[in-house]
Amino acid sequence: MAAIRILTGSVYGGALLTAKAIKQALESEGHSVTVLDNPILDDITSNDDALLVCTSTTGQGEIPPNLLPFYLSLREQLPQQPGRPFGVIVLGDSSYGDTFCGAGDLLEEALCETAAYKLGDTLRIDALETTEPELEALDWVAHWVGNL
Ligand SMILES: Cc1cc2nc3c(=O)[nH]c(=O)nc-3n(C[C@H](O)[C@H](O)[C@H](O)COP(=O)(O)O)c2cc1C
Repeated sequence: MAAIRILTGSVYGGALLTAKAIKQALESEGHSVTVLDNPILDDITSNDDALLVCTSTTGQGEIPPNLLPFYLSLREQLPQQPGRPFGVIVLGDSSYGDTFCGAGDLLEEALCETAAYKLGDTLRIDALETTEPELEALDWVAHWVGNL
């Protein structure tokens, strides 16, 4: 059984609902899951749980305000996390063109700079394609957690 911390960034609640659905599904299988809605750096440096980013994209490819302070601290301090597994689920809207799902790319870059290990391909959920992001996320996460 795995211990997982979900770093959530959300403006309108879709990514947060998705994170909560993931928590419910994984805990029913015996995993331990913490959803972090306003994370700080200490939330990841105080433990070695696997990390799952579950964020939407705002502005022009930007990170939602509730996740932005964490991201900025991470970039500034780059606490080294060699080999620590992380996955990325990012919500966006392909009508935004080049900035589609940009928040996920920013988080990925920053985590890679800490030497954390990216497990699995990023799941990009397109608001043009689905109104139920949690359904895509649950399929993806079932596979992801099996590889931890
Ligand atoms: C003001 C605004 C800006 C957005 N900017 C982007 C963007 O740059 N790239 C993108 O892929 N999606 C963008 N989106 C789409 C959201 O990421 C998408 O609707 C997402 O599902 C919202 O999730 P949330 O409910 O967790 O905030 C934007 C949405 C809004 C309202």
